[in-house]
Amino acid sequence: MRSLAEVIKDAEKKKIAIGHFNVSNLEQLNAIVGVVRKLNVSVIVGVSEGEREFIGVDQVVALIESFRNEGLEIYLNADHTHSTEKVREAVEAGFDAVLFDGGKLPLDENIKQTQEAIHVAKSIASDVLVEGELGYIGGGSEILEKLPEDAAISAESFTKPEDAQKFVKETSIDLLAPAVGNVHGMFKNAPNPRLDIPRIRAIKQSVNIPLVLHGGSGISDEDFISAIDAGISIIHISTELRAAWRSGVEHELEENKNEVAPYKVMADVVGEMEKVIEKKLRLFNRTQI
Ligand code: G3H
Ligand code: ZN
Repeated sequence: MRSLAEVIKDAEKKKIAIGHFNVSNLEQLNAIVGVVRKLNVSVIVGVSEGEREFIGVDQVVALIESFRNEGLEIYLNADHTHSTEKVREAVEAGFDAVLFDGGKLPLDENIKQTQEAIHVAKSIASDVLVEGELGYIGGGSEILEKLPEDAAISAESFTKPEDAQKFVKETSIDLLAPAVGNVHGMFKNAPNPRLDIPRIRAIKQSVNIPLVLHGGSGISDEDFISAIDAGISIIHISTELRAAWRSGVEHELEENKNEVAPYKVMADVVGEMEKVIEKKLRLFNRTQI
């Protein structure tokens, strides 16, 4: 099986993006695996601190391992990790990648804490990929009423190419998550803000490492294609999957008022989530399979 670093390199060469989906239960994971089996593409499963606490750190590693054993290219990322203790825990458990999230910190403090995270991670597993975040794009994968407070939502507050260059040079991170118009979460009845494509291109030129686009829910297909073309190699989706889970559960419970077997209620919910995942993976991989 290829390493995650090899898969990302290949994606850069082919100008495609790897889909990254967050999960907090087995149904979400089964939906991802179902689509990966069908399309035969690589995928990253992400678990934030809260998500992996809910599933279990060792348990999520074992689950991913069980799917790899059938030859699927599924990788595991410790998403939005805020302390070196949590970095240590994830890398020791066998995660392929970890995002140390200092996005809310001033640049120099972000550099300092990210350096510490890199040191901890690489001294446990030299091949684990470490991602750094520069620019704050809001905290939660949720349905938004308004844009998140303090988030970078205008060109002046987006990640600057020169800051990105300094950040990458001084930390030696493997992957960079910038703020380029993307925000965590999505509006119910309105599109998310547009991405700043020239900014993505400029950041990519100044750092020359793979770029990760967070906050993928609510972004238009057109912006995704332009962003991939400008240098994005990984795209994170969470809220859209959570929303499909919730509406699926509500619908199934309403339709099957006397059903008490979870696997019967949840089968069609998995199907609804598969639709979301398949659409994104076809787009990101630019495939008509
Ligand atoms: O790390 C998680 C992602 O950035 C998901 O963002 O909920 O807007 O899709 P999203
Ligand atoms: Zn994120």
